[in-house]
Amino acid sequence: MSSSIIITGASSGIGRASALALAGWDGPLILSGRSSDRLQETLDLLIERRGRGSVCRADLDSPEQLAALVDWAEQQAPLHGFVHAGGGAEFGTAQSQPPEVWEAQIGLNLNAAYRLTHLALQGMIPRKQGHLVYVNSVAGLRSFPASSAYVAAKHGLKGLADAVREDVREHDIKVSTLYPGATASEWWQKQEGDFPLQEMLEVEAVGAAVAYILNQVGQTVVEELLLRHQRGDF
Ligand SMILES: NC(=O)c1ccc[n+]([C@@H]2O[C@H](COP(=O)([O-])OP(=O)(O)OC[C@H]3O[C@@H](n4cnc5c(N)ncnc54)[C@H](OP(=O)(O)O)[C@@H]3O)[C@@H](O)[C@H]2O)c1
Repeated sequence: MSSSIIITGASSGIGRASALALAGWDGPLILSGRSSDRLQETLDLLIERRGRGSVCRADLDSPEQLAALVDWAEQQAPLHGFVHAGGGAEFGTAQSQPPEVWEAQIGLNLNAAYRLTHLALQGMIPRKQGHLVYVNSVAGLRSFPASSAYVAAKHGLKGLADAVREDVREHDIKVSTLYPGATASEWWQKQEGDFPLQEMLEVEAVGAAVAYILNQVGQTVVEELLLRHQRGDF
């Protein structure tokens, strides 16, 4: 029986590229994010490639909307898992960034990942199959200035994925973390400053890596994959 995959962050950048790279997936691809217009753009691109796809809007900061997203995906077809690419950052030094802004980033980039994981596993565990793919960042492995919230959340996301992997091994569920380096997505337009997009990874390369992770056969799992620009970081 075909199974569904939720893709968060599907309205933009890496999430959108992941959805398009997964066009060959035989079950429903559930595109999620907040922007209806941008999700529709991804859906149109996906339909060009595979003739179908579906959208379920959800704010990662809303427990109710996350629960509705997982329920809705399960109704389309048994949930295989997710590609969790939704997230955001607001950069600032520890001496200048208010704690509320810090906490909001932990909520978006870490707490929502746990909530989504917990919800998804309810149906996946009895079926004894599935795959959770977390889009992390090099910021989950090393630090950068003016990024304490983002770095802490991504380090936390690494810990979350590593611990969940141990929880679900016996249930035959795969857990993967992808660590992309700087990637030329809309992400950088949301930050202050000029950034050399041409020196970054292409979103299509990151999407292809997601498809590679999900297409491993049998019991093989890519537990961690670090994707860097050959010239290093900009
Ligand atoms: N770009 C990079 O250099 C880079 C490098 C390494 C890792 N990453 C990671 O890759 C992931 C995707 O980043 P990207 O480069 O694709 O960025 P992006 O183009 O800015 O996309 C971010 C996505 O997250 C969604 N999102 C943000 N806040 C949300 C919320 N409250 N609820 C639901 N969805 C929300 C956005 O959807 P809506 O706007 O529709 O809500 C959008 O689809 C992030 O986790 C990021 O940390 C990025």
